[in-house]
Amino acid sequence: MQIRRTNQGFNFDKYSNFEKDIDPKQRAWIEVKGKALETNVRYLRSQLKKSCQFMAVVKADGYGHDAKVVSEYAIKGGASQLGVATLQEGIYLRSSGVKKPILILGNLYTKKDLIISFKNDLMPTISSIRECLICNNIGKQFGLKFSLHLKVDTGMSRLGFECNKFVQQFEKIKSYEHISIKGIYSHLSSADEHNSLESQSTTQLQRQKFKELLSQIKIDSNHDITIHLANSAGMLLSHDFHFHMVRVGLSMYGYSPIQKIGNNLPLKPALFLKVKVAFIRIVDEGVGVSYGGNFVCGRKTKLAVLSIGYADGVPRNLSGKIKVLHNNTFYPQVGSITMDQMMVDITGSNEIKIGSTMTLLGSDGEKTISPIDWARESNTIPWEILCSFKNRLPRVQVN
Ligand SMILES: Cc1ncc(COP(=O)(O)O)c(C=O)c1O
Repeated sequence: MQIRRTNQGFNFDKYSNFEKDIDPKQRAWIEVKGKALETNVRYLRSQLKKSCQFMAVVKADGYGHDAKVVSEYAIKGGASQLGVATLQEGIYLRSSGVKKPILILGNLYTKKDLIISFKNDLMPTISSIRECLICNNIGKQFGLKFSLHLKVDTGMSRLGFECNKFVQQFEKIKSYEHISIKGIYSHLSSADEHNSLESQSTTQLQRQKFKELLSQIKIDSNHDITIHLANSAGMLLSHDFHFHMVRVGLSMYGYSPIQKIGNNLPLKPALFLKVKVAFIRIVDEGVGVSYGGNFVCGRKTKLAVLSIGYADGVPRNLSGKIKVLHNNTFYPQVGSITMDQMMVDITGSNEIKIGSTMTLLGSDGEKTISPIDWARESNTIPWEILCSFKNRLPRVQVN
């Protein structure tokens, strides 16, 4: 039996363009302020040691902001290189017309992936002689030099050559004719946790190890090799970490990784998470809200139902712990955050209506909610909050 679609027989011609015209701000969305990114990069660059380059770290879709938009404004602000995590992220930027050098911070280990990297003019991070040899063979095959960065492990125990073997290995690598070493770098493991003495000494130790290593290797004067170590925290700590380039993510997006320093920096958040009120209801005292009914209204309560949930990237463990902004006023979120919706107590407000916009992250009037607040409440880090936003939240550029 054929199933009859309910709309069969109706003429929808008048509405034929409706789907194309769905407003990106119809439900929930992320507003990205390119100008804020540009200003942040300009400011951060002004804090760098003279002639130090700025690599904008735009991995994970530009920390959830949209890598293409972030790259565009970071370059306007003076970023001279870009850092991504994966081959696909690099290809995406190249196909978006980005011309600046791009370093892949993750590891490529197959010949196929390294050929794709070479083809797309992306520089891989190399952590072993094995990977060097593959790159050298690829360079040879095409009669060119394969540009890459060598990474050394000074204490992160993630990617990188072992420090104590690198001096010898570097001599060997230098003899490979078809690779061009564009950079030597390492990564700080604990600079973000600068409040503890232990992490301070770990960070200093890593810097010391890196410097010692650099003093032991012989870099020919005709080789232009960029030396880099610092992430945002390292960059903000001291010029001692700057070397030839810094690789900056979080602070470029407007947040300081070190709270003590953060309050004094003129960084501007570039991301605003907004949502429409989809429904309003009034419930009696004693009524439970959301799954499990764990939140019970202590009085007659006016609830706004917001069309956003954990499937959009709002952590469910923030249930009952966050506030939402409307017109310079905070409203508490109540009950469990569900997959696609959450409830907010708006008792006493007459101005919030169905279709009103509320702000989950960013500022409204003089008040601001930061991913750092969310991270504290959900026992994670702001990086994870930013990277968790899903694609179903349209990214909308505003300036
Ligand atoms: C190798 C590397 N460099 C730089 C960064 C940027 O770090 P941040 O966002 O703290 O500035 C990252 C981020 O995780 C990274 O993995």
